[in-house]
Order: sequence, then structure tokens, then C-alpha cells
Amino acid sequence: MQALAKRRVPKMFYDYADTGSWTQSTYRENEAALQRQKLRQRVARNIDNRSVKSTMIGREVAMPVALAPVGLTGMQHADGEILAAQAAEEFGIPFTLSTMSVCSIEDVAEHTKTPFWFQLYVMRDRGFSENLMQRATAADCSALVLTLDLQVLGQRHQDLKNGLSTPPKPKPSVLVDLAFKPFWCWNMLQTKRREFGNIHGHVAGVDDMSSLAEWTNSQFDPTLDWSSVEWVKKHWDRKLILKGINDVEDAKIAAGLGVDAIVVSNHGGRQLDGALASYDVLGDIVDAVGDKIEVHFDGGIRSGQDVFRAVAMGAHSTYIGRAYIYGLGAMGKAGVTKVLEMIHKELDVTMGLCGETDITNTGRHNLVL
Ligand SMILES: Cc1cc2nc3c(=O)[nH]c(=O)nc-3n(C[C@H](O)[C@H](O)[C@H](O)COP(=O)(O)O)c2cc1C
Repeated sequence: MQALAKRRVPKMFYDYADTGSWTQSTYRENEAALQRQKLRQRVARNIDNRSVKSTMIGREVAMPVALAPVGLTGMQHADGEILAAQAAEEFGIPFTLSTMSVCSIEDVAEHTKTPFWFQLYVMRDRGFSENLMQRATAADCSALVLTLDLQVLGQRHQDLKNGLSTPPKPKPSVLVDLAFKPFWCWNMLQTKRREFGNIHGHVAGVDDMSSLAEWTNSQFDPTLDWSSVEWVKKHWDRKLILKGINDVEDAKIAAGLGVDAIVVSNHGGRQLDGALASYDVLGDIVDAVGDKIEVHFDGGIRSGQDVFRAVAMGAHSTYIGRAYIYGLGAMGKAGVTKVLEMIHKELDVTMGLCGETDITNTGRHNLVL
């Protein structure tokens, strides 16, 4: 899927996904840490009638996997957020829409039946953030995922070199690249959704959002702190998930705030380069707060085996980012569905080969520690 996405998606957007900040050490470590984790092979057990069904903040899910919020999904494939949300809905797992999406909250709601989750970036203009929460409420979003690890942007060299913007600026190098991406261009010509759907036309005084880095640095609120969670709760009375916890002390504070879940995450290695791989902190965070709050996990998951590793380590459930983005870039909605099918099958078979029949009964006894 990744190889096909690389061939089909314009370089600027493919690189945007397949990149980490600065030296990309944390990006690489996220995958490597999962790979290092060996599983315990158990045999001669009855592993008929297996189930990987689980729950996430009270919602039944076909497997403990949700689609993570990914900005600019609609630039990996035309109408990307709508297609991914539909694939997730049909599969029976949650979809999370990013604040920085191309398709708007209302647009995704109009094209799906099951309530999805909305990810919030808090902006300097708190009125705008309030408005986003009202729009998410009106669109029947059932959970808010508040991202805490992006108050300022970690530098991603490739985005600067490529001049990442949406829609892409018609520079000669971009036009040459687009000439080799007919699948993407053809689909993109059929849609009108090519800007930041949640933001365009909603933020006063912002007329040029084409440079994502500049826009983020000028608009995102660097004063966001733990007290801001209280502020969010005043405007959001449904389920609340805090995303971007990568430290035991932070996890303890978050668990004391009366939210529904935390996501152990380092933003897929896109923010603090040099931070620990999220899998390497997962166990300690589960030990510290796992009995008080649902601990979710993301970062580096590329297979059902990885989902199994995280759940066995104690994550209640997981999210995938790039894994589904590559499927989307490669084959649109069918590609996302294919990725979910592969992960589901790998998870089911891996669980069986570890001698387990129910994903909710797996644990550290399935890992070589
Ligand atoms: C291209 C891209 C864009 C992202 N945009 C957002 C975003 O808008 N909001 C957010 O909270 N996280 C964002 N993330 C982080 C993901 O939600 C998630 O934490 C990360 O992708 C997990 O790592 P993985 O890609 O290795 O699965 C983004 C990740 C990628 C790869």
C-alpha cells in the first residue's frame, strides 16, 4: 500500500505523511520499538471461535483500532476524510476527523451515519475553538480528541523543501510531478474540496493559509495548559480524550482531570524528535494510571501484530495513522478497507498463535519481557 501510495500521491503530500521531525529518530523508533517486542508462541490450545471485538470509551468496536486524526487527508486522495470515515463506519471502528481536515465536519457528517470523533487543536482565537466544538456537537460527534502535543510545530524538513501548501501552488516542479500522478489528478478534478474545510471562511483575518507551517505557528495557542482542559469541558459535555501523552507524570495529571481516555502518543514522531517511542512508555503509563482511565495508544502500528503487542502491553485500544493513509492514497476507500481487513486478519491469527481466543483476555503473559 505504501509503495502504491508513493507512486500515486503527489510527492508533497506523500512526503507529508511519510516523514518525522528533524532527524526523524522518534519516527523510526516508534516502528522499531514495536518490532523489538517478541511474542510468546503457545501451542496445543483450543483456539476455535476467536474474537477481536472490544470497546473504546463505551463504544463497541470490531477490533481495538480507530483511525487517528490526520491533517490534509483529503489531499492524499480526493474527498479523503469522507472516504476514510465511510470505510471505518462499514468496518465498525471509530473515525477521528482532524481540525486540519480538507472535508469539513458538516461534510463528513452528511456522508456518514455513525457518529464520528472530532480532534481539536486549540487556537489563539478561543472563540474559533468554541465554535469548532459547537459545530462538532451539532454534527453529532460523540467524542472530542483534544491534542496536547502540538502547540508549536516540530520542523519537518521535507515539507519546507517541498513548499507544502493546500491546494498545491502551480510551480514547475509541482506541475511536472502532477503530470505523473493521473489517478490523483483525475479524482481531484471531480471534487471541490481542496482547502482546509473546517477553517476556510471561519477564521476572521486569515486570508492566506496556504503555508501550513506559517499558519500553524501563527494560529495555534502556545498557552494551552492543563487548566485549558477545564475550559474545554465547559464547552464539551460528551466523551473527552486527551491525545499526546508520552510521560508518566503527564499521564497521572491527565488521569486526575476526569476525562474518558488518554492516548499515549508522540504524534507519530512528528513533534519532539528524540522523544521516547510511544511503545517504550506505554507499559509504565498503563502501570501508573491503567486502573483509573482507558489508556489508548498510537505510533508505529503497521500490522495486526503491532496492535496485538500494544494491547498485550496493556493498551485498551489503538489508533492507526499512516497505515490507513497509505491505503487511502493507494486505492481510495477500497484501500482503507483493505488495510483494515489485513490488520484484522493479522490480529486474529496472531492472537490464535499466542494461544488466545479473546482479545480482551490478552496481556503481558503473551509477551516475552
Ligand atoms: C500526515 C499526518 C498528519 C497528522 N495530523 C494530525 C492532526 O491533524 N491532529 C492530530 O492530533 N494528530 C495528527 N497526526 C498524528 C496522528 O494522529 C497519530 O498520532 C500518528 O499518525 C500515529 O502514528 P502512525 O502514523 O505511526 O500510526 C498526524 C499524523 C500524520 C502521519
